[in-house]
Amino acid sequence: MILKQKKLTLGTHLNLIDEMPNTLIIKKKIRKFNKAIKVTGDKSLSIRWVLLASQAIGKSKAYNLLMSEDVIAAIETIKKLGIKVKLYKNYCEIIGNGINGFKYKNNLTLNAKNSGTLGRLILGLLIKSPKKIKLVGDRSLSRRDFSRVTKPLKKFGAKFYYKRKNKLPLSILGAKLPKGINYLENKGSAQCKSSVMLAALNSSKITSIKAKKSRNHTELLFKYLKIPIKIKTTKKYDFINIKQPKKISAFNYKIPGDISSSAFFIVLTTLADDSKLLIKNVNINSSRIGVITILKKMGAKISLKNKKNYRGEEVCDIIIKSSKNLKAINCPTKLNSSAIDEFLIIFLLAARSKGISYFKDISELNQKESPRLNWGSKILNMMGIKTELTRDSIKIYGQPNLEIKKLITIKNYLKDHRIFMMSTVAALTCGGQWKIYDKDSINTSFPSFLKIIKKINNRII
Ligand code: S3P
Repeated sequence: MILKQKKLTLGTHLNLIDEMPNTLIIKKKIRKFNKAIKVTGDKSLSIRWVLLASQAIGKSKAYNLLMSEDVIAAIETIKKLGIKVKLYKNYCEIIGNGINGFKYKNNLTLNAKNSGTLGRLILGLLIKSPKKIKLVGDRSLSRRDFSRVTKPLKKFGAKFYYKRKNKLPLSILGAKLPKGINYLENKGSAQCKSSVMLAALNSSKITSIKAKKSRNHTELLFKYLKIPIKIKTTKKYDFINIKQPKKISAFNYKIPGDISSSAFFIVLTTLADDSKLLIKNVNINSSRIGVITILKKMGAKISLKNKKNYRGEEVCDIIIKSSKNLKAINCPTKLNSSAIDEFLIIFLLAARSKGISYFKDISELNQKESPRLNWGSKILNMMGIKTELTRDSIKIYGQPNLEIKKLITIKNYLKDHRIFMMSTVAALTCGGQWKIYDKDSINTSFPSFLKIIKKINNRII
C-alpha cells in the first residue's frame, strides 16, 4: 500500500510526518535551540478551582485555566450538577450556588472521562447527594481502583453501588447528615486526601486526616478561602483537621504553569545538544518539585529565578541548559510522591546517564492512566536500554552515548498522555525512527505540547 505522505507544519526539518492520521512520525533529532516558552496552566489547580468555585457563592473567575479534556470534563460535570459556567477568551467564570448547591434531575450520569482527579474528587462533593448519581469514565479510568476513595467516603454515611468490583461505573447515594471522620491516608495520594477534604465541607463535626505526604494544593486553597483548616506537619505525615465552613466566598485565581508539563521540556533541553530554555511562570510548590531535585542530583542544569508567592503557591521561571555529564541516581523514596507524575521522563534521563539508576517503592505508577512502570521499562527496552523490573521498582542501565538506529513503534498504551510525551522527547533526543500512535492523547493534559515543540524546533538561535 502506498501511503500519501502529508507533511505537518510541525518543524518539517525534523521530518515529523503526518503519514497516518493521529500518528506522529519522527525521523530526526531536535537541533540546538535557545528559546523562551510558557506551558499551560497546572492541571491539579485547574480542576480544584472548578470544583471549589462550584461550591462558592457567586461569580469566580480563573485566568490561564488549563483547557484540556480533563478540565473540560470537570466543567461539564459541574454544569450537569446545575452550576452555570461561562467561557470567555481570557478567563472562565463559574457562578456557584454555595456548598452543596447542586441542582439536578433523577438518573444523572457524570462522565469523568480520563481524569482520576475529577472522578475521585467529585465523589467527595457528592457526599450529601439525595439522589443516586452514576459516575462513568473512559477505558483507562474504568480499569483504575475507586475503592481507595469509596472506602473512606462510606464512613461519612454515603452508599456506593459497583457493577464490577471497585471499578467504574459506580453509583453514589449521599448521606442525609454526613458526619466528619478520622481517616488514615497511607498511599501518599492527593486524590484520596482531597476527596475526603471536599466531603468534610458538607459534614458536621471535625474531619481528621493523617495523610502521607502528597501534593497540598487543596490545603492551600482551603486556607486561602478561609475554610477552617488546621495542619500539623511531620517528616512523613500531615495531620489535617477540617471544620465545616459556613460558606465559601467567590474567588478569582490566576493558574500558574504546570510543572508536570514543564518536566518534558526540562528533559528535552537537558538531553539536546548545546541548548537553553526559559520556562516562564511555573508552579514550584514544594510538594510537586521532586522532578527538579532528582534531575539536579543526576547532573541536570536547572535554575529557578524570580520566585514569588501566589496565594500560598510558589511560582518562578525555570532556566535549563543542556548537560553532558549525567550520572545515575539511587532515588530516595522520600521524593516519590513529589515526582509521582514525572517518573517516565525521569527514566528517560536515567537511560542517558552514566551508571545504574534505581527507583523503588513506586508500585503506584502502575495505578495511573496506564501501567506506567511497566510501560516505562518496555519503552526503554525498545530503545536498547537494559532494565530490571519488579512490581514496585526498576533498575535502569544508562548509556550516555546511546544512538538509536532502528524503527520504534509505540502503540496500544491506553492513550496515556505521558507515554506519548516521553516517547516524543526520546525520539527527539536519542535518534532512530519513531512512529508514535494516538497523538490526540495529549489533549487530556497538554493540548499545545506539539505546538511548543514546533516553536522550539527553530534553526534561528
Ligand atoms: C493528582 C494526584 C496524583 C497525580 C495526578 C493528579 C491530583 O494522583 O498522579 O496526576 O491532582 O490530586 P494520586 O493522588 O492518585 O497519587
